[in-house]
Amino acid sequence: MRKALITGVTGQDGSYLVELLLGEGYEVHGIIRRASTFNTSRIEHVYQDPHVEGTRFFLHYGDLADANTIRKLIYKIRPDEIYNFGAQSHVRVSFDIPEYTANITGLGALRILEAIKDYEGETGAKVKFYQASSSELFGSAPPPQNELTPFQPRSPYGVAKLFAFHTTKNYREAYGIFAVNGILFNHESPRRGETFVTRKITKGIADIVAGRADKIYLGNLDAKRDWGYAPEFVEAMWRMLQHEAPEDFVIGTGEAHTVREFCELGFHHAGIGDWQKYVAIVHRYFRPTEVDYLLADPRKAREKLGWYARTKFADLVKIMVDADMKINGVKQ
Ligand code: NAP
Ligand code: GDD
Repeated sequence: MRKALITGVTGQDGSYLVELLLGEGYEVHGIIRRASTFNTSRIEHVYQDPHVEGTRFFLHYGDLADANTIRKLIYKIRPDEIYNFGAQSHVRVSFDIPEYTANITGLGALRILEAIKDYEGETGAKVKFYQASSSELFGSAPPPQNELTPFQPRSPYGVAKLFAFHTTKNYREAYGIFAVNGILFNHESPRRGETFVTRKITKGIADIVAGRADKIYLGNLDAKRDWGYAPEFVEAMWRMLQHEAPEDFVIGTGEAHTVREFCELGFHHAGIGDWQKYVAIVHRYFRPTEVDYLLADPRKAREKLGWYARTKFADLVKIMVDADMKINGVKQ
């Protein structure tokens, strides 16, 4: 039975990847952070009691700041594949906590790769490594962006991901590790964190419709993003590790829209035409340096992995608005 280890298993992507890997017959191990409140809500539906025979999903305490524990877990679990999703993943917040972001989002990948290097050297085993790289790497590079576009990051988060990107590539070239970067454009779902703009909008709309809120407070409505549907994107990551050779891939839909269009469509789907009445622009949600326009050129993934995004922008907006309305008990 193939074994996978996932950092960031409690996040949006971690939760969808667990579903995919269990479906593919893997034994799945996830690293969770100790917290004083429960942080496992996204994976509760797939949780399995470790005392029951036949269980294939296991959770372990750990942290990307703690190289010792990461190393011990790799030696103990002996995974065939490692997916590094753990990160301080919020771009705006990375301006507030840049050092922490560099430590976790940047150095975290190095800590895993160093452990893999030693583990492979000592045991002769082979481990495939997936690094959750990001279209934030492109920053101010003009669209469309593909695997050959030079990186011009615009945030502490982007700079930390740049370090992790090159570290992954360097360990591939220097030590022959099957290590790949998935350069993923924004991907969303009803499990998206509530402070990312799409979910903030769809939750805000559902709260307004339910009479629980009057307004949504947002920043830059002119930014353009290439938004896809997260469950499809984790499939692309898995395919990268099944590919014959370790290569980096851009993953996105090939279509970009503004935050304004997301608002318009979301409110429209909820039956509200005069949406501007319900949106207030506030300074605190702007970034010191913004990434204006991200648009994927995902042709390599289609040609070599047979992967392409199936869910279109308008459908994604509907899926997310409907899910938040359902949470609020609003019938449509
Ligand atoms: P997410 O929902 O924010 O999840 C981040 C995960 O990282 C959570 O499980 C979080 O744990 C964990 N984490 C945070 N700090 C950690 C630490 N110090 N040690 C170990 N784990 C830690 O992110 P996502 O949307 O699933 O994205 C997954 C990965 O892809 C991230 O690396 C992100 O930067 C990258 N990425 C995302 C997108 C996107 O559009 N979603 C696009 C490109 C790249 P807690 O639950 O305990 O907070
Ligand atoms: N979060 C947020 N909140 N963003 C806002 C708001 C707001 O109130 N108002 C406008 N925006 C704009 C941001 O300025 C940005 O241009 C855009 O909406 C998207 O912001 P986020 O949803 O926070 O995502 P992101 O593009 O910065 O980062 C996400 O995608 C990256 C891949 O491109 C994250 O998932 C990163 O982890 C990921 O790497």
